[in-house]
Amino acid sequence: MNAQLHPVPSNIEPAANTELDAFWMPFTANRQFKGNPRLLARAEGMHYWTADGREVLDGVAGLWCVNAGHGRREITEAVTKQLSTMEFAPTFQMGHPIAFELANRLTAISPPGLDRVFFTNSGSESVDTALKIAIAYHRAKGAGQRTRFIGREKGYHGVGFGGMSVGGMVNNRKTFGASMLQGVDHLSHTLNIEHNAYSRGLPQWGAHLANELERLIALHDASTIAAVIVEPISGSAGVLLPPVGYLKRLREICDKNDILLIFDEVITGFGRVGKPFASLAFDVTPDLMTTAKGLTNGAIPMGAVFAHRKIYDACMQAPEGSIELFHGYTYSAHPVACAAALATLDVYQKEGLLTRAASMSAQWEDAVHSLRGLPHVVDIRKYGLIGAVELEPRGGKPGARAFEIFLKCFERGIMVRQTGDTIAMSPPLIIEPKQIARLVETLGSVIRETA
Ligand SMILES: Cc1ncc(COP(=O)(O)O)c(C=O)c1O
Repeated sequence: MNAQLHPVPSNIEPAANTELDAFWMPFTANRQFKGNPRLLARAEGMHYWTADGREVLDGVAGLWCVNAGHGRREITEAVTKQLSTMEFAPTFQMGHPIAFELANRLTAISPPGLDRVFFTNSGSESVDTALKIAIAYHRAKGAGQRTRFIGREKGYHGVGFGGMSVGGMVNNRKTFGASMLQGVDHLSHTLNIEHNAYSRGLPQWGAHLANELERLIALHDASTIAAVIVEPISGSAGVLLPPVGYLKRLREICDKNDILLIFDEVITGFGRVGKPFASLAFDVTPDLMTTAKGLTNGAIPMGAVFAHRKIYDACMQAPEGSIELFHGYTYSAHPVACAAALATLDVYQKEGLLTRAASMSAQWEDAVHSLRGLPHVVDIRKYGLIGAVELEPRGGKPGARAFEIFLKCFERGIMVRQTGDTIAMSPPLIIEPKQIARLVETLGSVIRETA
């Protein structure tokens, strides 16, 4: 790729004050980290550099967000220009042109019918927004009793109270158990190593798991259920793929029962699976779609909820002059984020990044599957430019082996992500064949030497 990068000084100044106590770090073992910090100081293209000057190949696009690679000059310039033109403008009863321009640009790549866009600042906010829109839609249609949600075990939908409640990751839930949304059920997750280990493409076994939705509908009655929310591919729980036919079946059952289907595409959106969205790759169109991360290449926080026009239109039946949806964020459609997103879309489109993962997919699949047979590896999963290696847990110490591998990989100059006993990879979509080889070979040699 001929990525345009903005100039970054190559000699890294030591940080002025690296006293670590004050920053309460998110989703981090704070005390352990602070005893052995991993500090990133600069980034460009496919790489980070640590504060002590070591180069690290980015195998996870930061946190599944830097899809066009680091240090994109076009995005920096757009952000800089917007900051000096108008750093902020409200979008409550006011507007600014690039918010509308961005919404229009996004609907040009969105799944069919999803042509109304509500802006947020993160994936968590997108999820909570989508849940609220689902309830508002049913209420606008005279079905205000439809307030239940159905999520899925091992699902991750961010950390707001709504997303946490429909999510299915135990550690994210157990501390806050009493404060969950009422009226939420969960489908079974779709991970089944016994039937589907080492599947290439989507796993063949498991479409029938979608039929559980019918059981939950029979239990509660469809008239009480607002929406089902799933990730087309779960990322945070360790890359769980939808079995062939599973998502279509969910769609059919939702249609039959007037239940909205929400796809959480916070990690699968913006080219990760070889199409702009997983919904397009799997040919199943949801009613609402949540996004964030790759929307701005991670440069400025921003999220977007795509709503089917029927949802928007139903909500617009409110009396003329009244606010139709009492929801929004001070920074919804923040002008600097809009500028970053527009420049990001330009880069994606100019460089074909929204579909590049499809052309890299076969090579990526072979590379990731070459790790089969290494010690403790029990499954390999992959789709688009996503890959995961599932490891056998160490007796009595779940996650310990994968965490050790993550640490050693970082020392050897590659950044991967550990979640439970899974090592996940989701490199920037500009990755080149040589870099795929280096990423997977390094991971392989670390796995080989880890007891
Ligand atoms: C599927 C999914 N939904 C929601 C989120 C939450 O996004 P954020 O961390 O931007 O709030 C994530 C984050 O990884 C995610 O993977």
